[in-house]
Amino acid sequence: MNLAELNKVAVAMVAPGKGILAADESSGTIKKRFDGIGVESTEDNRRDYREMMFRTNEAMSKYISGVILYDETIWQKAKDGTPLVEVIRKSGAIPGIKVDEGTKPLPNCPGELITIGLDKLADRLPKYYDQGARFAKWRAVIDIAPGIPSYTAILTNAHALARYAALCQQAQIVPIVEPEVLMDGDHDIDRCVEVTEFVLKETFQQLYYQRVPLEGIVLKPNMAVAGKKSAKKASVQEVAEKTVRMLKNCVPGAVPGIAFLSGGQSDEEATAHLDAMNKIGNLPWNLTFSYGRALQAAPQKAWSGKSENVAAAQRAFLHRAQMNGLASLGQWKSDLEKKAA
Ligand code: 13P
Repeated sequence: MNLAELNKVAVAMVAPGKGILAADESSGTIKKRFDGIGVESTEDNRRDYREMMFRTNEAMSKYISGVILYDETIWQKAKDGTPLVEVIRKSGAIPGIKVDEGTKPLPNCPGELITIGLDKLADRLPKYYDQGARFAKWRAVIDIAPGIPSYTAILTNAHALARYAALCQQAQIVPIVEPEVLMDGDHDIDRCVEVTEFVLKETFQQLYYQRVPLEGIVLKPNMAVAGKKSAKKASVQEVAEKTVRMLKNCVPGAVPGIAFLSGGQSDEEATAHLDAMNKIGNLPWNLTFSYGRALQAAPQKAWSGKSENVAAAQRAFLHRAQMNGLASLGQWKSDLEKKAA
């Protein structure tokens, strides 16, 4: 393992003013998104949609540091025959790859999940590296509900994340370590903080046991937010303060950067929260975005599967990328949203 090289990639992934585009929806998830805009989920439509974003030059070159791809996309070619990986690389962004194989029910833990995909991972990673991937993603899912999460689920998922991270670094690929505590429940923000802290502490302990040098990873956590069904919504300032405090208590300064998932927050919430955290400032790591839905919802709707809508969709993508780029610097203002509308 060349740690200096891994660190260089990790630092570039969280460069100030830039963040990561999570375009790694599985076939099932992208079908759900396409159903929402009335588009059939064919291989060509998925390619056209993602190519539309990757060719939004201003967004990609100024605000996007890297793109997480799904297995299908990393092997796909653009309409003109250029490999999509090449389109991304030419824009200045780094190609990455989702390598987990989704989740399965965790035995003896009703309602809880374990992320799978470790078995052949050591053989798969060099092929992704040869195809141009310089970082990877693995998402663990922890749900909050009465009686859960169990320690069994937290430990087992953290262990898998750490095994994945070690295998990635061995293949000279930077692991994005993503332990996602879902915001689906009716819990308040303090319950989210309590569970997320436990999950992060276990994750870093397991990374230590697997001897993973933290200079060569990027952490992708959830923010501290109330569950979607909670009656008590937290303010932007409360989310920012509680998230920063939680992370300072759990994430060593050796980690080059933290890139949040959006997790079901609205586009503007995801931007405002990130911005408020960076306005607090004085942080030991760069704080940026690795958004899926909060970057793509607007361009997806604008595109709606029609080639005549590509320019409008690219404008919508550029706008969200720019807003989040500013938020990564603590320089976003809500007026900028209104001006664009
Ligand atoms: P969301 O921002 O839509 O949560 O997606 C990010 C991601 O990559 C989840 O694994």
